[in-house]
Amino acid sequence: MTPAEQSRRAAEICALAPVVPVLVVDDLSRAAGLARALVAGGLPALEVTLRTPSALDVIRAMAEVPGGVVGAGTLLTPSDVKAAKAAGAKFGVSPGATDRIIGACEDEGLPLLPGAVTATEVMTLLEKGFTVQKFFPAETSGGAAALKAIGGPIPQVHFCPTGGIGMKNVADYLGQKTILCVGGSWIAPAAAVANADWATIEALAREASALPRAAFPA
Ligand code: 3PG
Repeated sequence: MTPAEQSRRAAEICALAPVVPVLVVDDLSRAAGLARALVAGGLPALEVTLRTPSALDVIRAMAEVPGGVVGAGTLLTPSDVKAAKAAGAKFGVSPGATDRIIGACEDEGLPLLPGAVTATEVMTLLEKGFTVQKFFPAETSGGAAALKAIGGPIPQVHFCPTGGIGMKNVADYLGQKTILCVGGSWIAPAAAVANADWATIEALAREASALPRAAFPA
């Protein structure tokens, strides 16, 4: 799958909802309930980070939940890419982008959202064909203002920023035409997941799913 094809698919996934929950799940027994709550609240695209020993099993369990589109985050190596694809991930997210990760996603046919921050990183990925990129870590890299500045000279690249985004600042991001959606962990607070408090998570998802986006005018 070429980078251009990967970005086309990534754009479709980003179009599903204004927010992609970034999930760190330790307890496999919470996976299905968490995914069901998020999908019910209007957030079908889910990023499961490969930061816990159970992450691949969590992807497998969430992939069974109707209406969800489950991806793998924190892809750092080609073997992460292979394992994520084998577990049923429909997309991949990396905090950065290396030639080996990009090659693995091409070989495995896994649509990648590669990470970039600087104009040179954005341009380097654009040269390869990636027109949809992750901007990470968003808040500490200049936040919405930095993305607005990058969007001046490079308006053909669209972004999913993540890192430090919550209800307090999400509107700054979603108000920009080059921002398709944002990623964030605030939708699934650790305590609510641990307590299987699906009503709280569904309510947070519902609030996030109603956020307006400049990239998708009504
Ligand atoms: C991450 O990779 O952890 C994401 O960027 C989520 O960041 P957040 O926890 O600040 O939302």
